[in-house]
Amino acid sequence: MHATPPADPVSPRRPRPRVRGVPSGFFRDIVESLRNAVIAVRRDGRLAVMNDGAYRALGVTPAPGDIGRPYAEVLRPCPEIVRILSSAFELNLLPNRAELRLKGTGKVIGYTLGLVRDAAGEATGATLLFKDLTRVEQLEERERLRDRLAALGEMAAAIAHEVKNPLAGIEIMAGLLKRRVAESAEAQSLLNEIIHEAKMANAIVMEVLEFVRPIRLHVEPVALARVVDEALAMAEAVVPRRRVRVTTELPAGLVAVEADAQQLRQLVTNLVINAFEAMDGNGRVTIAARQVAGGHGAGCVELEVADDGPGVPDEARDRIFSPFFTTKPRGSGLGLSIVRKIVDAHDGRIDVSNGPSGGACFRVTLPVTPLGDEANAGEAA
Ligand SMILES: Nc1ncnc2c1ncn2[C@@H]1O[C@H](COP(=O)(O)OP(=O)(O)OP(=O)(O)O)[C@@H](O)[C@H]1O
Ligand SMILES: [Mg+2]
Repeated sequence: MHATPPADPVSPRRPRPRVRGVPSGFFRDIVESLRNAVIAVRRDGRLAVMNDGAYRALGVTPAPGDIGRPYAEVLRPCPEIVRILSSAFELNLLPNRAELRLKGTGKVIGYTLGLVRDAAGEATGATLLFKDLTRVEQLEERERLRDRLAALGEMAAAIAHEVKNPLAGIEIMAGLLKRRVAESAEAQSLLNEIIHEAKMANAIVMEVLEFVRPIRLHVEPVALARVVDEALAMAEAVVPRRRVRVTTELPAGLVAVEADAQQLRQLVTNLVINAFEAMDGNGRVTIAARQVAGGHGAGCVELEVADDGPGVPDEARDRIFSPFFTTKPRGSGLGLSIVRKIVDAHDGRIDVSNGPSGGACFRVTLPVTPLGDEANAGEAA
């Protein structure tokens, strides 16, 4: 290896050393400053260019002397990228705007592979242009879900509206009939049953309407510790806690989140109810919160509700947030849909995983920055 002055692709402000065989001056600056990731390799397997964006997207730490080394070594943490680059000289049709999930980091990248040709048309190298699509993908997924929920909501609201009146009619007429057949005990009990069922159907309709109604947030700084306490009390009023132990891990100085306190309490309550229900009277529920660095502003707060019940089976994971998905004999399947709706309204995220002990762990990430202030928070595009 020839002695190269330390290249530091991460800080573009520092004067960049000239490396032999690497485009210098303005062209080099162009490549370094591109917002897309760029890698170029020579036919003999050496790395010719790797810009900042590429190091970042691949999670590779820049080292002095990377340029000129075999790219298979520099890119060892990303075998997929090595494979793509080495295919450039073999394929007839090079991938254009293809997508790939990197195993190491879980990131999704979109990439285009090209050949570098000299004046004689000989392929002397290959270029890989790519971009981290992970965030785009998440946003698209959320967008799709929002559309689906909006369409579903409109339909549900229309049906609920149509069903409400006939239900009220059934209840009233059954009441009238009850008076007509006051002497028959059997008829009375049947009519009571009808009225009871009509009331139940009406309660479901009301619940659906509640679910599809758009949320109007009353945002204020909210202390999570208080929300968690209240949510625990509300959950215990619905599901007896029995021998389930509850541990809370809320740091004393935890930053307040800008949120709607009531909605947030509903969110935590629904998660805790599910945790209690998953555990059949025995076990432990852990509620923990911590501040984490976020994409912008003051970062995010992560709130976790974990239990040591059976966990969420892999095949159900995609569906548990859908309205009416339930595995419980008496469930309506709206609990987590409401959770998701509240999280979305706060511009947050929710993930579920199964913990080491097998139980479910729901993690809600909420931005600390007030909603609508993101533009001022200076997020890098
Ligand atoms: N902590 C958990 N552990 C295991 N499975 C869970 C957990 N939380 C939710 N689930 C699964 O997700 C499904 C949907 O949950 P959701 O809260 O939306 O509805 P539900 O609890 O079945 O009914 P509802 O909340 O409307 O009374 C549950 O039926 C259950 O299968
Ligand atoms: Mg539930």
